Order: sequence, then C-alpha cells, then structure tokens
Amino acid sequence: MRPTIGTLLFALLMLATACRRDAREDIGAEVHRTTPYTLDYPSYFPQPNIPASNPLTQEGITLGRRLYYDTLLSRNGPFQGFACATCHDQDRSFTVPTAGTNVLAHVNLAWSTHFLWNGKVSGTLEDVMRFEVEEFFQVDAANLNAHPEYPALFQQAFGSPTITNDLVIKALAQWFRRMTSSNSRFDQYMKGETSLTPPEMEGAMIFLSEIGDCFHCHALPLMTDNAFHNIGLAASFSGTDVGRFAVTGAPMDMGAFKTPTLRNIALTAPYMHDGRFQTLEEVVDHYSGGVQHSASLDPIMTKPGTITTLGLTPQQKASLISFLHTLTDETFLTDPELASPF
Ligand code: HEC
Ligand code: HEC
Repeated sequence: MRPTIGTLLFALLMLATACRRDAREDIGAEVHRTTPYTLDYPSYFPQPNIPASNPLTQEGITLGRRLYYDTLLSRNGPFQGFACATCHDQDRSFTVPTAGTNVLAHVNLAWSTHFLWNGKVSGTLEDVMRFEVEEFFQVDAANLNAHPEYPALFQQAFGSPTITNDLVIKALAQWFRRMTSSNSRFDQYMKGETSLTPPEMEGAMIFLSEIGDCFHCHALPLMTDNAFHNIGLAASFSGTDVGRFAVTGAPMDMGAFKTPTLRNIALTAPYMHDGRFQTLEEVVDHYSGGVQHSASLDPIMTKPGTITTLGLTPQQKASLISFLHTLTDETFLTDPELASPF
C-alpha cells in the first residue's frame, strides 16, 4: 500500500510526539530512577537481611561489583595495588590461600549477622563494609570523584554524582547480597532435582545425625549457625587464637570462632581461622579424634561425659568428605555476573 498524505501526516505526528516524549524523558532523567533487583534464593532459605535504607537495585549491584574488582579503591591506603578480589577469588568461593589469618569466603553473607573470625563486627553487611572501607582499605573517595566514569555510575545507582564513603559502603553491601550460592548438588537434591550417591548419602547421615554432630553448628541450609564455638583446636589460647574472647572478654568465648559456612568447602583450603589444616581429611581427623579439652570447649564437642572422640571409621570419614563435596556450587563459581567486569 502506498502511503497517503494522511498516513504520512500521521507518521510525522507520531515522530513529533515521540520527539516531545524524548525531551520530557531527558528532563525526567534528572529525577533518579533505578531498576529494582529481586534476590533469587530457594524457598528453604530464611529471609535475608536487607535494610530498607539500601534496597537492591541493578545499578547498585553493578557498581558494587566494579568497586570490588577495582584497585582504585585501595589507592593511597595501606593496601595500595589491591582490589577486594585480589584476596577474594571467585574460583575459590572468593578466598585465596594465605599464610596467617585465613581468608573468609564471600558466600551468602546476606544471611550473616556477625562478621570476621572473631565477630568483631555485628549487624548487617553495611556495618562490615564500613569496617572494610574505612578501617581496612581506608578508601579515599577523592580518587573515585576524580575518575571519568564513577560519578555517573553513582548518579545512576544513588541519584548523586558526589561520591562519599556512605555510598561506597551501600554499593558494596548490595554486591555482597548478590553473591548468593544456592545451586550446589546438595541444593539440587533438596529441590528434588538430583539424587546423591550411596557414599554421599551416608556422609549426609553422619553430618546430620549424632554420629558426626556437624549440623548443630553448620546448620542447614546456610551451613552455619552464625554463632561462635571453641571446637578444641588447642587446650590453651593466646594471641589471635583467643578468638571471640578478644571482643567480649567473656571466659566462655575463649578460643571461640565464627562457624564458617561449608558451602564450596572443597575449594577453600587451607582450613580454620589460622589455616592450620591443608585438607578436608585433616579436618575430619580433628573432629574424629583430635579435639582438645579446655574450660571453654563447646559442650556440643563432648559426647556424654568427657568423651571427645567421634571415632569415625575410615569409610565413614571418606563418606563424610564426599558429602562435603556435594556443597560445591558450580553455578556460583562460574557465574559470569559474579566475575570481574574489567
Ligand atoms: C589482603 C587480603 C584481603 C583483601 C585485599 C581483602 N580481604 Fe576481605 N578478608 C581477608 C581476610 C584474611 C579475612 C578474614 C579476616 C578476619 O576475620 O579477621 C577477610 C574477611 C572478609 C569479610 C568477612 C566475611 C565473614 O564471613 O565474616 C568480609 C565481609 C570481607 N573480607 C570483605 C572485603 C572487602 C569488601 C574487601 C575490599 C574492600 C576485602 N575484603 C579485601 C583478606 C582480604
Ligand atoms: C560446636 C560447633 C561445631 C561442630 C559440632 C562442628 N563444627 Fe566445623 N567448625 C566450627 C567452627 C567454629 C569452625 C571454625 C573454627 C576455627 O577456625 O577456629 C569450624 C570449621 C570447620 C571447617 C573449616 C572451615 C573453613 O572455612 O576453614 C570444616 C571443613 C568443618 N568445620 C567441618 C565440620 C564437620 C565435618 C563437622 C562434623 C564432624 C563439624 N565441622 C562440626 C564449628 C563446629
């Protein structure tokens, strides 16, 4: 059909109104708009801690991710040349092997209420990000304000091109909430999508029953109870090994540390707050026969009376370890949205 004057006019009118609409949107763009982001997690997870003052947005998460991978964050601070990701590598569930204090994984921290091995920061991810930004990296916001792209990215995420520590903290906290792992083989089993092998099932039974007693502290589904325990790594404690005691001064907390999640545990060697164990075999040997007594030893670590040995057979140990391997989440470890944006 050939266009008539009428249809041409109509098309022109449409163009004109479209142009006007564009002009209105240009003005509207100064009014700040963001894209809400809904965190994806299974029905058997509890509610994550998301403060009303920092709702998840696509723009905030994108910005937080970039900050996490950017060495600009550490410029002029004590960790010059480092990005957060330098010590927190996606392939290893956001850890790297180190000597000294063991790096904690960044996985499902949206559900965490205590942070760092001795829990010296409590609250939400905003609280621990304040520690990381202001005390650990000593971020100089001037470096970000002088950057050619960051002011526009903060404008998009928070409606302000002026970058402050508070906004850096908010963006990083949003990004940490996005680092959610819920598709390990064990999750797939929980969702009825797969079955476990007989050794894995035997390991699950040991983990989830009094035989191994692991579940009391490494509670489902997050594989942590968000609490602190002395698991008998030593009979007496000094230096950083005093753990939670350094924060509370309570004798009960001597030698107690945050229960780490066991998600992706096969990939985060070495193990324990000081990285003393190189393998899961060594960890299981500790729980099975190496627990040492002290006044603050967690009661869960002692069976009736003062017995501290689980006395697992070699086959039970092997099964328990094969179960721990089902907590590896390939989706999380290889998710391109969690990788470096650079
Ligand atoms: C030099 C290595 C290194 C760098 C760089 C680093 N971290 Fe860490 N991170 C660690 C270590 C080690 C721990 C455990 C420290 C402790 O508990 O005392 C840790 C623990 C954490 C925790 C606590 C996790 C939990 O389960 O309680 C958070 C959150 C965290 N880091 C965030 C960050 C952020 C954000 C950055 C960048 C601003 C960063 N880290 C940079 C080594 C590093
Ligand atoms: C009383 C609570 C408790 C019980 C029971 C318990 N754990 Fe732990 N687990 C912890 C705490 C706390 C830590 C960290 C201790 C430290 O670093 O000093 C830990 C650390 C670990 C680690 C190393 C984690 C890492 O990131 O370095 C593994 C693996 C582990 N536990 C597996 C198990 C298994 C398997 C069982 C059952 C046989 C078990 N746990 C029973 C509380 C417990």
